Amino acid sequence: MGTVIPLKKEINNSYFELKNLVGDKLNDVSQIIKYKLKSEINLIHKMTNHHLNSGGKRIRPLLTLAAAKLCGYKDGKRDVNLAACIELIHSATLLHDDVIDKSDLRRGIKTTNSIWGNQSSILMGDYLFSRCFELMVEDDSSEVLKLLSSTSSIIAQGEVLQLENKGEIDMLEETYFNIINMKTAALFSAATRVGACIANKNKKEKDALESYGKNLGLAFQIADDALDYYSTQKVLGKEIGKDFFEGKTTMPMVVIFQRGNSEERNFLKEIFKKEKRNEDDFSETLTLINKYKAVHESLKRAEYFVNVSHGALEVFENSNEKKILQNLTDFSLNRSF
Ligand code: IPE
Ligand code: IPE
Ligand code: MG
Ligand code: MG
Repeated sequence: MGTVIPLKKEINNSYFELKNLVGDKLNDVSQIIKYKLKSEINLIHKMTNHHLNSGGKRIRPLLTLAAAKLCGYKDGKRDVNLAACIELIHSATLLHDDVIDKSDLRRGIKTTNSIWGNQSSILMGDYLFSRCFELMVEDDSSEVLKLLSSTSSIIAQGEVLQLENKGEIDMLEETYFNIINMKTAALFSAATRVGACIANKNKKEKDALESYGKNLGLAFQIADDALDYYSTQKVLGKEIGKDFFEGKTTMPMVVIFQRGNSEERNFLKEIFKKEKRNEDDFSETLTLINKYKAVHESLKRAEYFVNVSHGALEVFENSNEKKILQNLTDFSLNRSF
């Protein structure tokens, strides 16, 4: 794998601090999801169990819970219900994404599609979306309904835009940012904005939390795209080099294509034209990734979003939750999982 050049050396515990901050409520979120996904259909029952046991970081519902707390939301269960909605949208998109990306491994275990096939996985994704819509309707707020339903349509459009650009090694950096803004940052920004919505905060706080989540999400996806080139399957719980083999142009590839000489660019064009890339293609590409420090460069570009995200919370008074959320911006980039 490529050489790891981390930007910062200190250990960032903000993810665990965030879990401590709203851990009890996160357990309630898991209970709601479990309850909501109940079905008499045997196959759904099996796939649900597989999904629930796989866990995941749950970073998006944690963000909703912490954003609501930051805004002083106290009475009621809307934070927990809507955090469950956010995680259901995330899980549904992952079920579809693993079919599109032909992924066999997620969260260290076999994907639903690799066990039960593409058809069942797609239907399972639809089932999760439908259960999420039921929860949203029960929440009974047109503002939240509008926000979360438009977010789902943005994610789908982002995934289609990415598909449309498959194999495009000369993809514009701007197109890459459009894709990750839609497929990833949109859900992060909805997850945080919704916290301000349920606390009846004004536009300034809603916009601040939206900007915080959006920029955090951009950094988070750039980190994910970089990890695809330098992490290990054991640590990440996903196959490494997946984006490359699938012909997906992400930030590290954008960097080497921009910096490469004409011979290197021609090599990249040729291998991206092919239906399938092999291990030799990958190791030659990794040599270029190292030569042009593409992982480091990608993370450096993402630092801009980390800073914008951190700054967005300045409209809030100082508090423990503000500090944890601000520290989380660094974690989103320098994480190893
Ligand atoms: C994976 O998201 C999809 C991306 C946007 C990179 P996470 O890394 O949050 O996945 P889980 O839920 O923790 O497995
Ligand atoms: C994120 O993109 C997918 C969605 C936001 C739906 P990736 O395809 O990079 O996510 P992983 O790597 O499969 O988790
Ligand atoms: Mg994927
Ligand atoms: Mg990825």
